[in-house]
Amino acid sequence: MNQTFNRHRRLRANAAMRDLVKETRLHPSDFIYPLFVVEGLEGKKEVPSMPGVYHVSLDLLKDEMAELISLGIKSVIVFGVPEEKDACGTQAFHDHGIVQKGIAEIKKHYPEMIVIADTCLCEYTDHGHCGVVKDGEILNDESLELLAQTAVSQAKAGADIIAPSNMMDGFVTVIREALDKEGFTNIPIMSYAVKYSSEFYGPFRDAADSTPQFGDRKTYQMDPANRLEALREAESDAAEGADFLIVKPSMSYLDIMRDVKNRHHLPLVAYNVSGEYSMVKAAAQNGWIKEKEMVLEILTSMKRAGADLIMTYHAKDAAKWLAE
Ligand code: PBG
Repeated sequence: MNQTFNRHRRLRANAAMRDLVKETRLHPSDFIYPLFVVEGLEGKKEVPSMPGVYHVSLDLLKDEMAELISLGIKSVIVFGVPEEKDACGTQAFHDHGIVQKGIAEIKKHYPEMIVIADTCLCEYTDHGHCGVVKDGEILNDESLELLAQTAVSQAKAGADIIAPSNMMDGFVTVIREALDKEGFTNIPIMSYAVKYSSEFYGPFRDAADSTPQFGDRKTYQMDPANRLEALREAESDAAEGADFLIVKPSMSYLDIMRDVKNRHHLPLVAYNVSGEYSMVKAAAQNGWIKEKEMVLEILTSMKRAGADLIMTYHAKDAAKWLAE
């Protein structure tokens, strides 16, 4: 027969051949595992909307680290759930707040673990917003001061990376300035540069007890309909000195990830968020999908879209599957 078409299937003929031409590979060191440290808790407690994800006490952090390290996972992002909340989120920047204690506890036992601090106010404010509220409005510049204080207190506790997630304009600038002033010139900023206002955060807000008590986050988080706005956000944060850029959520935003990757040369992080996790877990528990195959496909798609690192609640399972 005349060769009038290409034989793509030659490179798919068997597993060894497919492995040879594989363009994207996952590795446990790509994963950043999110942890919820809960003040006043004893032991651990599963988050109902996120099967397999736990609230953990300070004492249990050591065991968590041992497990992660045995799986080849080398970084965590830590969220604190305090006992007391107030209007300006004092516990976020308290030197002995739950997240500061959690960071210090991890670094004391596992100095080699990369500890990323989520820098936001919403888990600590009684109204559940990510900034200071006045007359129903979320104030930008007033929130920045508290965020900078939060970042410094986290760095003092031993955080290796500061990850501001509250979407106030100028947060990278003020945090960089504050860190430098306190001598933390070598602490990088992993900016939630592109963060959409998303229903996919629902289960996280149960887990972190951070649902806004009035209104929504649409005046600070982005409209899912917008792409150019994402590029402007990434540009600002890169110009302000961010060391990493995060795109969040992931699965419905792979196009944005690729766009950001093509324009910036900073390490790019995908946040595979709570709602994305819960959907997969629910389907798997019902026997409607094969969890392992689906999770590895999803995580691979993020790397293919340009992510260098992936924050994911699937990290432990995925690391186990990759080792099989
Ligand atoms: C804090 C924060 C949120 C998430 C990470 N940091 C919640 C939000 O913005 O409401 C969501 C993470 C997830 O859904 O897994 N601002």
